[in-house]
Amino acid sequence: MDNITILDHPLIKHKISMLRDKQTGTNEFRKLVGEVAMLMGYEALRDLPLEEVEVETPIETCMTPMLTGRKIAIIPILRAGLGMVDGLLSLYPSAKIGHIGLYRDEITYEPREYYCKLPDAIDERIIIVTDPMLATGGSAVDAIGQIKKHGGKNIKFMCIIAAPEGLKNLSESHPDVQIYVGQQDRGLNENAYIRPGLGDAGDRIFGTK
Ligand code: PRP
Ligand code: URA
Repeated sequence: MDNITILDHPLIKHKISMLRDKQTGTNEFRKLVGEVAMLMGYEALRDLPLEEVEVETPIETCMTPMLTGRKIAIIPILRAGLGMVDGLLSLYPSAKIGHIGLYRDEITYEPREYYCKLPDAIDERIIIVTDPMLATGGSAVDAIGQIKKHGGKNIKFMCIIAAPEGLKNLSESHPDVQIYVGQQDRGLNENAYIRPGLGDAGDRIFGTK
């Protein structure tokens, strides 16, 4: 599974530990999700294309690298993926935002689609799909399938916590997608929740139950 990058940075590890703590309230939780997304984005955008441009410094003219080429689309999987958008926008403010609405059926754990709106020229963009949790992987596999149906090609997926089952499912279903993971956990419980995980990410971000 060489399309998986598990991030290994102490700041990310520390912030994920704070997210796991059930005492962490909505306000702090939301802030931490954004910060982890930004730190992960720094790594996930490492291969952005650059071109040499001419710039006049106060001292002299020089050739210096600037971002070029393909534009970025951030596509959160609703709801919880929304919590990661601002962190990525702080790195790349001109990104366009798409939305994919999915919820997991409580009995079958299968994803149910309810919304899909993507930026134009999606086939020409570098796409970052966000969702804090990769559990069975069903939601991510389905969302990325929808993006591909609309023409998306260059796709990265970013999650904060992944179960090995979800990673295997996503990596095998979409081997062309680069997957970025904050931390890999032990597995799933009988309700397909990640152990130890952080609970229900959407409920904790939005303060619902
Ligand atoms: C959560 C999470 C993922 C999905 C992960 O969303 O944000 O989208 O479950 O589970 P999977 O890998 O087994 O598909 P949920 O369905 O609870 O919806 P929400 O974000 O609206 O709360
Ligand atoms: N969705 C969540 O929000 N958390 C889990 O552990 C699994 C699915």
